[in-house]
Formats: sequence, structure tokens, C-alpha cells
Amino acid sequence: MKGTWYVLENKSKLLSSLILYDFGSEQFGIGSIATPQLLRKQGHASRLISAVIFEIENKHQRPTLFLYSDIEPEFYENLGFQRLPADVQRYKATTCMIRGSAIQKFLSDKRATPEYF
Ligand SMILES: CC(C)(COP(=O)(O)OP(=O)(O)OC[C@H]1O[C@@H](n2cnc3c(N)ncnc32)[C@H](O)[C@@H]1OP(=O)(O)O)[C@@H](O)C(=O)NCCC(=O)NCCS
Repeated sequence: MKGTWYVLENKSKLLSSLILYDFGSEQFGIGSIATPQLLRKQGHASRLISAVIFEIENKHQRPTLFLYSDIEPEFYENLGFQRLPADVQRYKATTCMIRGSAIQKFLSDKRATPEYF
């Protein structure tokens, strides 16, 4: 699948990274979010995710942004994502989440939850 890496860095030092997938039809997925162990809990991942959200939501009319949370979903809820309801979740170990108001349209369109990416 075609993805674009986004990296937060300071003076060429990697602080956090993620990959953004473009599924077409204004649908996107954020994955592989990681901060080097010694640099965690300083807001780097939150800052990078917020910057990517800002870019997508400025470039597109009504984008739908998904991610799969392999950690406690609260981290992503603080960034404006909501858990999709249990009946549309595909996997036990990871929770599919969607950003903001896109959840209404996603549920009313009765579209399938994306496969893990
Ligand atoms: C999750 C991760 C990207 C956060 O990076 P970070 O730069 O430390 O993130 P921030 O500083 O913006 O936010 C820190 C918050 O992350 C959250 N967090 C980190 N690990 C978590 C976990 N396993 N479960 C739940 N929340 C977690 C906490 O809410 C923490 O807040 P706190 O400082 O109040 O405890 C980082 O811990 C990491 O690389 N983990 C390993 C890879 C991974 O699990 N990625 C997520 C896949 S969905």
C-alpha cells in the first residue's frame, strides 16, 4: 500500500514518526506512530499527529481519517478521534478509530471498516 512517511525532527534528530496512507475518495489512515523510547512523554507524537491532521483537513473538503489504536484509545481521543462501535470492529487486539464528525457519515453510509493497515 502506498504511504507517506512524516517525521518530526529537531536539528536532524528524529523525535517521532508516522505513516499516512491515502485510500482514495478523501479517506486516509495514520499508522506506525512511534517515538524513540528515550524521547517519549514529551508531546512529540501528539504534536506530529496534530500537524498531520491539520494538513489533511486543510487540503481536503471532508476527509475521513482512520487509525488503529494498539494502545489505550484515550491517547487518540485526546487528539479528536473516536472509537468506532464494537459491531463494526474487525479485530480484538486493536481498535479502529475515526476522527471527529466523519463518524456520523461513516456510520450512515454503512461502509466497511478498513482492514488493518
Ligand atoms: C505511543 C507513542 C507513539 C507515544 O509517543 P510520545 O511521543 O511519548 O507521545 P506524547 O508525548 O505525545 O504523549 C504521551 C502519552 O502517550 C500515551 N501513551 C503512551 N504509551 C501508551 C500506552 N501504551 N497506552 C496508552 N497510552 C499511552 C499516554 O497517554 C502519554 O501521556 P502521559 O504522558 O500523560 O502518560 C510511544 O509511546 C511509542 O512509540 N510507543 C511504541 C509504539 C506504539 O505503541 N505506537 C502506537 C501504535 S497505535
